[in-house]
Amino acid sequence: MTEEKQLSLFESADSEPASPKAPTNFEAIPTSASVPIPPGTYANLEQLIPHCQGCQRCQLGRTRINTVISRGNPQADIMIIGEGPGQQEDETGLPFVGKSGQLLEKILASVELTVENDIYIANMVKCRPPGNRTPEAAEIEACKPYLLEQIRLVDPKIILFAGATALKGLTGDKRGITKVRGQWLEWDNRLCMAIFHPAYLLRNPSAEKGSPKWLMWQDIREIRSRCDELRAS
Ligand code: URA
Repeated sequence: MTEEKQLSLFESADSEPASPKAPTNFEAIPTSASVPIPPGTYANLEQLIPHCQGCQRCQLGRTRINTVISRGNPQADIMIIGEGPGQQEDETGLPFVGKSGQLLEKILASVELTVENDIYIANMVKCRPPGNRTPEAAEIEACKPYLLEQIRLVDPKIILFAGATALKGLTGDKRGITKVRGQWLEWDNRLCMAIFHPAYLLRNPSAEKGSPKWLMWQDIREIRSRCDELRAS
């Protein structure tokens, strides 16, 4: 496959329901990270929105413009989990709408996947870390129960961890992304794969054989074909 062909492809383009458990103090969830959010707290994704929008479970709540909850299809087979909102995401309240998001959509389009139909996107943290720094462990922990509820309610067939922060934040796997990307792994009884974060691909634009962009192209084709198999089974 020629370099041009690869680039042009980029350009084109049920788990068990958790038994509901009443949280200790439902009203206090958005204000205190010490209040647990057990699986089953939210009956649907809509219920979670006002809690996220009013959330002050960590310091990021003080500096955000908008809480960035999700984008895409809540019935999607594939869920993509990024790191955290950047400036454009903070301004719009939608994940992956800046340059990284545009590249992500091109990568998906290269195998005829669209965010609208096939993907549900969320982040490890729902509020922008100032200066786009990596979210701190305490911020990830404070926000994680919302994300776990999103995963339970969307119930995707496949989860993609975009970058090492998402991989480590959910699975605890501290290996570098270049080591683990492209390998299927099981987490939460789900089929998962770590992929390069699109921001990393923007910083490494070469599409030469063996480059991150080239590897991403292999990974997205593998993901598409596994998704097709799962849809057919
Ligand atoms: N990077 C992320 O990890 N998430 C976004 O929503 C945007 C950029």
